[in-house]
Order: sequence, then structure tokens, then C-alpha cells
Amino acid sequence: MNKTARPAVLVARAVFPEVIERLRGVFEVEANPDDRVWSRAEFSTRLAGKQGALITGSERIDAELLDAHPQLRAVCNMAVGYNNIDVPACSARGVVATNTPDVLTETTADFGFALMMATARRMAESERFLRRGEWTKWSYDMFTGSDIHGATLGVLGMGRIGQAIARRGVHGFGMKLVYHNRSRLAPEIEAALGARWVGKAELLEASDHLVLVLPYSAESHHAIGAAELAAMKPSATLTNIARGGIVDDAALAQALREHRIAAAGLDVFEGEPALNPALLDLPNVVLTPHIASATVATRRAMADLAADNLVAALTGGTPPTPIDPGVPRRA
Ligand code: GLV
Repeated sequence: MNKTARPAVLVARAVFPEVIERLRGVFEVEANPDDRVWSRAEFSTRLAGKQGALITGSERIDAELLDAHPQLRAVCNMAVGYNNIDVPACSARGVVATNTPDVLTETTADFGFALMMATARRMAESERFLRRGEWTKWSYDMFTGSDIHGATLGVLGMGRIGQAIARRGVHGFGMKLVYHNRSRLAPEIEAALGARWVGKAELLEASDHLVLVLPYSAESHHAIGAAELAAMKPSATLTNIARGGIVDDAALAQALREHRIAAAGLDVFEGEPALNPALLDLPNVVLTPHIASATVATRRAMADLAADNLVAALTGGTPPTPIDPGVPRRA
């Protein structure tokens, strides 16, 4: 890059026009107003000559891509999850990688709770029944589901979003709380929530409503598969707002078909936006298209934070939310 030239950045997906305008005030910007999902080859071609990129979970950043673009200095994810980014590969090359924590915590927890409730109370299934014109009479057992209040909430992955869901369950709905996480909550947080840390086996057995909020990695791939589903109560629900791939969707479809658990709420899928077709035919699953953080205010806050990170990373500032705060800065 010529010393006087402004840095060039790629904005890989459509985003609020105001955010693009702000970036144009600082950078040469190549944007994607049509919101086409570029192939990896096209994404790589467009990265040529760019010092930074504002990306989403749809763009994969790995060692091969980084080596093809040694001029790249910052990749700023508009998502809290960053399984699409090889962070050690970025850090090893002095590339700053950032995500968008905190700004989406409460919104995502609202959605996770809503999806759990919709699942337990059979809202999607009963709405489809009504729309089909099949509602002709009241019946004592029509769409009977399971209670949320007073039930046992299980949380797998007790980070910021897990804790926000737990607060809703405990303080809003009088739920009992069990959780499993690599590290335990501080004793005062456990006490405030009445939370009980349990091993994964006990979590599966004890939960009336199990919510997954853990990051996706090789370690958490298929953390919920046939064996785990078999260990759950037949009356239990499973809600996944974390990432596709944490649940073995084929095993889940089979468990739902055989009523080995009562129902599932899924906002994320293996291989999304494609999904296992078996899920589409099942009545006892609520399916949403990865929208847990999708309120106008929160998506705007995520875009602003991603832009803050990009501007800081490329103009000598301190990015507010680096994934690896120890990454050495490159000139
Ligand atoms: C959405 O899935 C996110 O990670 O922000």
C-alpha cells in the first residue's frame, strides 16, 4: 500500500448503508450491496489488495486464505461466534480478528427463551394446524405441551448468553437451573441463580428444557448425538441457538420421529442454510433461519461494533473486541 493511500477494505455482505458510508469516510470500500453470497474463490479474488474485511459467519478465514493475502491486517466478524475464523492462524500472521460480543447478549437470550417456549408449548405446530383450517372444536388434550414455569432448565455452555437465558428462567419463570460448562460460574453468580453445576450426563438426565449455548469447535461437534438424546427425558425439549454441527441433526430427526424427546427448537443447522430434509417433515420441531440476534437495534449495534473494530485495527487504534487480545500488531 502506498503510504498516503487510504486502506482498502472489503465488506463481504450487505449491511446498513449508514455503516458503509461511515467506512467510506475512512477507507476505500468494496461492498456487496446485492448481498450475493460469494463463493470462496470470488471472496478471495475480491480480497486482493484489501487490508481489512468486514465479514459474517458465511465467510471462512483460514491459513490458506491468509497466505494468499499477506497484505490483510484485520478481519472483523459481525457475529459473536467465530468458528468461521482460524484465530491462531490469524494471530500467527499478525492479523487482528474481532467479533461482536455483549451487544447481542440480551437479544439472543430473548430469542432463545422464546424458541424454548414456542417448542414446549407447540406454537408452530398448532399455528400450522389452524392455518390449514383444521381447528373445528376445543379438546382437552389439543396441543398440550409442557410447562416452563417451575421446570428444570438445563444450559449447556454458560457464557454471557447462557447466563442471560438462565436469568430469564430463574427470575422470570421460577425455573430450577442446572448447567454444564468447562469452567464453573463464580460462587456468587451460582448462588444468585440457584444454579447447580453438573456433569454432562446429569445435565441430560435432569433437564426438562435443555438449551445449547456453547461455541462450536472440533470438541463440541455432535456434542448432542443419538446417545445424548437417548439419555434425555422423553418429555424434554432441546433448543439450539448456538451453531449447527453441535447437534447431530440426523440423530435428532430420528429421536423426534420416535418421540424419544418431545420436541426441539432449532435456529441453527448443520450445513445451513441447507438443512436436513427430515426435519421439515416433523411436526414437533420449531425451525427458524438463524435469527436469534435479529432485532433492528441489535443488528445495527453489531454492524457498528464490527466497523469500530475495523477502523481501530487499520488506523492505529485499539479494536474494542479482539478475539485474541495478545495478537502482535503489524505495521
Ligand atoms: C450468530 O450466530 C453470532 O454468532 O453472532
